[in-house]
Amino acid sequence: MLRFTWFPKMIPTLFSNILIFLVISHASAQNSYAGSGLTDDLVGWIGSLPNPGAINSKLLSEDFATMGAGFKAKSDIGENETLVEIPLDAAMSSKTAGDSAIGEVFEGRKFNDFQALVLHLMYEESDPKSKYSAFIQTLPESVDLPFTWNDEALEALNGSRLNDYVLTQRGYINKDYEELFAPVFESDPVKFPKELFNKEKYVWALSIVLSRAHRFSVPGRQGTIPVLIPVLDIFNHDNVGGRVESDSEKGVFRLSATRAYKEGEQVYASYGQSMGNFELLYNYGFVLPANPEDAISVNFKVFDDAFAEIRKSMLKALKLPQQASYLVKKGQALPSDLLKTLRVQVLRAADFDKFPLVAEGPVSLQNELETLHQLLGTFKALLNRYPNSATQDTELLMSEGGLERKLAYSVFYRRAEKTIVEDGIKNIFELWNSLLLAKFTEKAAPAIF
Ligand SMILES: *[C@@H]1O[C@H](CO)[C@@H](O)[C@H](O)[C@H]1NC(C)=O
Ligand SMILES: *[C@@H]1O[C@H](CO)[C@@H](O)[C@H](O)[C@H]1NC(C)=O
Repeated sequence: MLRFTWFPKMIPTLFSNILIFLVISHASAQNSYAGSGLTDDLVGWIGSLPNPGAINSKLLSEDFATMGAGFKAKSDIGENETLVEIPLDAAMSSKTAGDSAIGEVFEGRKFNDFQALVLHLMYEESDPKSKYSAFIQTLPESVDLPFTWNDEALEALNGSRLNDYVLTQRGYINKDYEELFAPVFESDPVKFPKELFNKEKYVWALSIVLSRAHRFSVPGRQGTIPVLIPVLDIFNHDNVGGRVESDSEKGVFRLSATRAYKEGEQVYASYGQSMGNFELLYNYGFVLPANPEDAISVNFKVFDDAFAEIRKSMLKALKLPQQASYLVKKGQALPSDLLKTLRVQVLRAADFDKFPLVAEGPVSLQNELETLHQLLGTFKALLNRYPNSATQDTELLMSEGGLERKLAYSVFYRRAEKTIVEDGIKNIFELWNSLLLAKFTEKAAPAIF
């Protein structure tokens, strides 16, 4: 009766150290995807620009076993200390694409900011005399994002929302190539020779922009625009990592520490807020084994029946949306607005006058039973989409010799998703139990109705 789709975000997974070690022992092949880190050429180029950048001398370029190239603290770093300043002039964006040698290509064509940056990167990569050479040479040869995975690797995501997302994303990527990029290459084979401008190179540039560009909001424009910022793109992500801002007065992008670091610790940049493993795997091709941002979300929309209009006006009176996605985070109670909304959704006509009571808690035993039953059905349907259980995933993660990297990431991600749903089911039973223990008594409808 209720139509739910769901939006996995994420949860923290509680794993023993030994388990993480096993997985990671086989994850180290990721280094080949991580790029070369900071090179002398890159430092030299950034330092030679008219408005030279600066890298905090307490930062040391380092290869990390499981994360690839990054930075560590040579000595203690304080909170809010500036880590890196990179001149605007060194960054690549749709703006520099428009000012570049291929600027006229964009005229009369429907390239958005993202697509323009992808083509810009392809062109600069093909040009040995590019001003961005020192930067481009530090980029990895490939980025292992799920959209590039083969069917066998993708099977590990079966049943997860990421699976649906990746298939949709592939469709867009192919369509963009056929409709936008290929016609440009065909229109000028001298400027865009086939051996340098093809699907493979496009996938490479797209993966680089997806996984390494920082996103900025621009006043007066919808959404964000991606910007590739040399050096800043080398930092690895954690959820409390440094913040990136642009300082137009000084003409730089600045990364500052959002916390203090002790000597020897890895120094991070946060790629974005509230990034669960769903977002991390989709955009960047990795997961954090214990990610506190993990969550799923449950999508609600008023069911289209004879009482839909009445229910919509009740929701409006209660200041609840008629359509929303509710985040269910691990270790937290079920979202109370979701429960209120569901109570309205399953309220029987005879009880319509009691609707203001949903804001305080259960309206009637009947209504609460049906509310919880709806949610239980949704959660069970989500679990049934997966070919195997969280317990089986845990066993897989503990298998001798660990797992291949893509599989390990997929299992970490999907296991967390299942665990949130399982905990949600437990919460439903606890809510029902507490109702029984409290010896629920029905209230009369509020007098004003
Ligand atoms: C860092 O900056 C934040 C906000 O700008 C401020 O609240 C905090 O006190 C600062 N911390 C230190 C150690 O200066
Ligand atoms: C996904 O899992 C379902 C069982 O939940 C199975 O029937 C289906 O064949 C699987 N699909 C793929 C592509 O593996």
